[in-house]
Amino acid sequence: MSKQPVLEATGIVAGYSPDLPILHGINLHVDEGEIVTIIGPNGAGKSTFVKAIAGLVTVSAGNILFNRSDITHINSHQLAKSGVGFVPQTGNVFTTLTIHENLVLGGVTLPAKKANQRIEEIYQMYPVLRERQFEKAAVLSGGQRQILAVARALLTAPKLMLLDEPTAGLSPMAATELFNVVRNLVADGASVLMVEQNARAALRISDRGYVFAEGQNRAQGTAAGLLEDNDIKQIFLGVRKKPDDNSENN
Ligand SMILES: Nc1ncnc2c1ncn2[C@@H]1O[C@H](COP(=O)(O)OP(=O)(O)O)[C@@H](O)[C@H]1O
Ligand SMILES: [Mg+2]
Repeated sequence: MSKQPVLEATGIVAGYSPDLPILHGINLHVDEGEIVTIIGPNGAGKSTFVKAIAGLVTVSAGNILFNRSDITHINSHQLAKSGVGFVPQTGNVFTTLTIHENLVLGGVTLPAKKANQRIEEIYQMYPVLRERQFEKAAVLSGGQRQILAVARALLTAPKLMLLDEPTAGLSPMAATELFNVVRNLVADGASVLMVEQNARAALRISDRGYVFAEGQNRAQGTAAGLLEDNDIKQIFLGVRKKPDDNSENN
């Protein structure tokens, strides 16, 4: 059985003002059940690309299909309803609100009964959130905060989850835990597109990866292939070859 594309972005040109495109024709797809990771240097346009999918940046050329429907010019509110969840790079939880209030806000587009049911399901998945539901999100550790951000985006039961640097600033242990959360999303039937600086660890749990540079596709392939690619290793995975040695370790 061949996999169906969940997301197909073709020739995406987008930016923050019409006369200054940041993305110059990006192509990317995510198949059903895949974890796909975008890596690349700072300023490459990775966040701009996921924001373009999420309806937060205007797309001036190209198109985006989600389950074969055109979502190129959909706004972010419609997008959540249509089944795409988005965890932005920053400001993804309200620290002055409690954990429970953050979850309620994530389900604000749902009928109240459905929202309560989803919150209950999320508490079953992430007991730590239930235990601490009346505490302000500000008191959570970085890792727990990211789990809350993902949980909040899960309220609408997205079929595609967009994650922008979910492990930024986390300890290796918290990052591993977050990557387990990402794996669980797929086990529950979603597909994932994430941006990661933590490139090696992200590729290890991914099916495929894309390298962006200067608003363009630079490379793409299976995650295993990218992890083995010498150029990618040296530029993005922190592996340096010693001049007198062919072994590779960082
Ligand atoms: N809100 C914004 N307004 C104007 N330019 C922006 C904004 N956000 C990012 N940029 C610019 O867009 C380019 C790509 O940024 P970004 O997509 O955040 O890169 P990445 O996520 O790959 O580090 C950069 O040159 C950055 O300065
Ligand atoms: Mg970014």
